[in-house]
Amino acid sequence: MTDKPFDIIVYGATSFVGQIVTRYMHETFAGEGVRWAIAGRSKAKLEAVNAAVGLSDIPMIVADAADRATLEAMCAQGTVIVSTVGPYALHGDLLVEICTASGTHYCDLTGEPHWIRRMQARHEAAAKASGARIVHCCGFDSIPSDMGVHFLQAHAQQAFGAPCERIDMRVMRMKGGASGGTIASMVNLVKEASGDPALRRELKNPYSLCPPDHGFTARQSSVGADYDARLERWLAPFIMASINTKVVHRSNALSGKAYGQNFLYEEAMVTGKGSGGKRRAKLTAMGLGAFTSGLAIPPLRWVLGKFLPKPGEGPSETEQREGMFDMAFLGTTAKGERLRCRVTGDRDPGYGSTAKMLSQAALCLARDVPADAPGGFWTPATLMGDALIARLQAHAGLTFDIVEEK
Ligand SMILES: NC(=O)c1ccc[n+]([C@@H]2O[C@H](COP(=O)([O-])OP(=O)(O)OC[C@H]3O[C@@H](n4cnc5c(N)ncnc54)[C@H](OP(=O)(O)O)[C@@H]3O)[C@@H](O)[C@H]2O)c1
Repeated sequence: MTDKPFDIIVYGATSFVGQIVTRYMHETFAGEGVRWAIAGRSKAKLEAVNAAVGLSDIPMIVADAADRATLEAMCAQGTVIVSTVGPYALHGDLLVEICTASGTHYCDLTGEPHWIRRMQARHEAAAKASGARIVHCCGFDSIPSDMGVHFLQAHAQQAFGAPCERIDMRVMRMKGGASGGTIASMVNLVKEASGDPALRRELKNPYSLCPPDHGFTARQSSVGADYDARLERWLAPFIMASINTKVVHRSNALSGKAYGQNFLYEEAMVTGKGSGGKRRAKLTAMGLGAFTSGLAIPPLRWVLGKFLPKPGEGPSETEQREGMFDMAFLGTTAKGERLRCRVTGDRDPGYGSTAKMLSQAALCLARDVPADAPGGFWTPATLMGDALIARLQAHAGLTFDIVEEK
């Protein structure tokens, strides 16, 4: 607890995902004594959210992402700022600068690795000096991956006295859609990378978010249309693998290499058994490649933009409610012992479930993190660990279980 008036300020409450966060906090935080407020650049839009969600006395703060004075005034009032103002690479710099300078804790939903690396390089020293704890990637990317690995490794230590030296995360099933903000963030990333060979190399580096002295050299693999002998199923690339993998390796680096110097981590989507699974794996791999290449070419990007959600748009309430995800983490120790865990979510991954994960991460940051935890750029697993898993299981519809291998 600090003497600031609010524990949490939801910045970007008018965004597609910010509105779901606001509704969830309103329903879940009632009676918990959480002091929270919503914020955004437009008073009229904030009032509309207020009316739509049926908030009665939630304070509203007006702050533009490009206006230093309004952001400073907002940060002066909140212990934790939760930002859904994206694309973060376009709108996020100044807020992170002010949070790190003022000792204000911060979490967000970015999945933009180049922006995270830039923020670390520019502001890590200020965060360490001020005590600000900065935690990016508190949504579907990368909480299930980061926390799933943390969970499996803790059980491996208990069962075998050693961590798994290799973990393969497989998306067994997933149902959900994308929003305009997510598409805008992807488009911006592809646009930046298409004119910048150094950035393209950086995006391929699984260790790009690790501290510069990480010393990891293990060659990580990536999945095309491949066969998983352990699952006896076909695999296709998973669109979030690039960011999730980087976050998991940062967690390893920040935890004193608790997963090992040569830890291997891979993510993929399961497409099924037999020839049908193989065909779907090939089609998915080709489709993903074509989509990314299409976004890199301006006229095709324009055409694709006609069919993709615009800012403010996203999956319907029914789609959010009927969505879900189911992931398997397959671990193997250096001695060949095997352990498997399952992580599930009860809403569509990117919105219904992400909103709950982000809200619980914010509350964990405000309430559960030990007062002596230093400032800096953390990951969900390294800063919030088991406390966050407990919150996700109790309040966010996620499950974490060790399961037997068939
Ligand atoms: N990690 C994950 O799993 C995950 C899941 C979902 C979304 N996301 C990310 O979350 C972000 C939001 O997505 P979304 O679809 O909800 O976005 P969206 O609906 O397009 O909303 C964008 C938000 O940014 C605000 N904004 C834009 N410029 C601003 C400025 N100058 N000052 C203050 N606010 C400004 C908008 O305010 P107005 O309403 O006033 O225009 C709006 O609130 C994206 O970056 C997306 O990639 C990540």
